[in-house]
Amino acid sequence: MANYSLFSLFLFLLSIISTAWTTSEHELNDDPLIRQVVSSDGVDDHMLLNKFEYQFSKFKKTYNKAYDTEEENEYRFGVFMSNLLRARRHQKLDPSAKHGITKFFDLTPSEFHNQFLMSETLQHPNLPNTILNAPILSTNDLPSKIDWRDRGAVTRVKDQGSCKASWAFSVAGIMEAVHYQRSYQLADLSVQQILDCDSTCFPPNTNCDAGCDGGYTYNALNYLSSAGGIMAEFDYPFTGTSSNPCQFDKSAVVSSVSKIFYISNKEDQIAAYVAKRNPVIVLVNSQYLQSYKGGVSCPSQCLQAGNHGGLLVGYDAGRNWTIKNSWGTNWGEDGYFRLCKDYITCYDQVDPIALTVVAD
Ligand SMILES: *[C@@H]1O[C@H](CO)[C@@H](O)[C@H](O)[C@H]1NC(C)=O
Repeated sequence: MANYSLFSLFLFLLSIISTAWTTSEHELNDDPLIRQVVSSDGVDDHMLLNKFEYQFSKFKKTYNKAYDTEEENEYRFGVFMSNLLRARRHQKLDPSAKHGITKFFDLTPSEFHNQFLMSETLQHPNLPNTILNAPILSTNDLPSKIDWRDRGAVTRVKDQGSCKASWAFSVAGIMEAVHYQRSYQLADLSVQQILDCDSTCFPPNTNCDAGCDGGYTYNALNYLSSAGGIMAEFDYPFTGTSSNPCQFDKSAVVSSVSKIFYISNKEDQIAAYVAKRNPVIVLVNSQYLQSYKGGVSCPSQCLQAGNHGGLLVGYDAGRNWTIKNSWGTNWGEDGYFRLCKDYITCYDQVDPIALTVVAD
């Protein structure tokens, strides 16, 4: 056991060294943990290791983690330690958020990416012409803040598990909001219908919706528009698996969509749509979310490429955004996260990042 653990520490040191290639030396030398590890003698190594082992067993208890073999356990311990290091780095680059141990801490960054997010190849180059440019709304009369949760228009936070379905959850979320707007009734709508029944591709044969393997919000909205709408979660419950036969029943549709718009990539337009119409679907970059615990995330580096779909439900008096996620309530701020003003559109984005709909 002790040998395994020392081996893990060795892996951890190795990961620090490999991190050094992508991190400036200055930043590395600044990190007290690293200085301690690099300069410590054998005694300190053991103290440090005890600290990490304690954190790891706490983590396993908190999130109900168990590994099949001792080897796997040791491997995950190594991954966990290097995630601690990443969280420290994230904390430094993103001081207005709190970064630390989350339920994703036994996953390597690429496992995290593969398990939860749309794959890079599923990034969309352009859009079908059924998706229209949203009309520009006036922005000089916006409320200073808004939160659709206060209005009772947002359903409980869901957990996608290991199914890469954030795109489908954000689509169900916007359908729930328009349904509420029409009927003043709050209903969970069926993500599983989208996963089982929607295989829309755009461009043809290229970017296809593929259940738990990922998909596109605009494809899913197009599917709902042509299928006739979305059923209730109660009638078509989430299983978190794909490749099931489609059991869509048109007579049980709860909410349907007539028009799909993308909002121009200007934050004041996104704010106007959230304030005057509905929560909107947004694509965000998820790199910092693996270690996100709460607060307003505002990384000093602008990360390219949205790879994760969420439902933007409001903004505060400083125009920081509140976004509903689909990773359960034991992540982030009860399942939500916040991003700072101007971060969503911080890079020159050609692809639309925010979508809105008009109900049938
Ligand atoms: C918005 O986020 C920033 C951090 O980026 C924070 O300083 C500010 O207080 C937040 N605004 C509000 C109203 O909470």
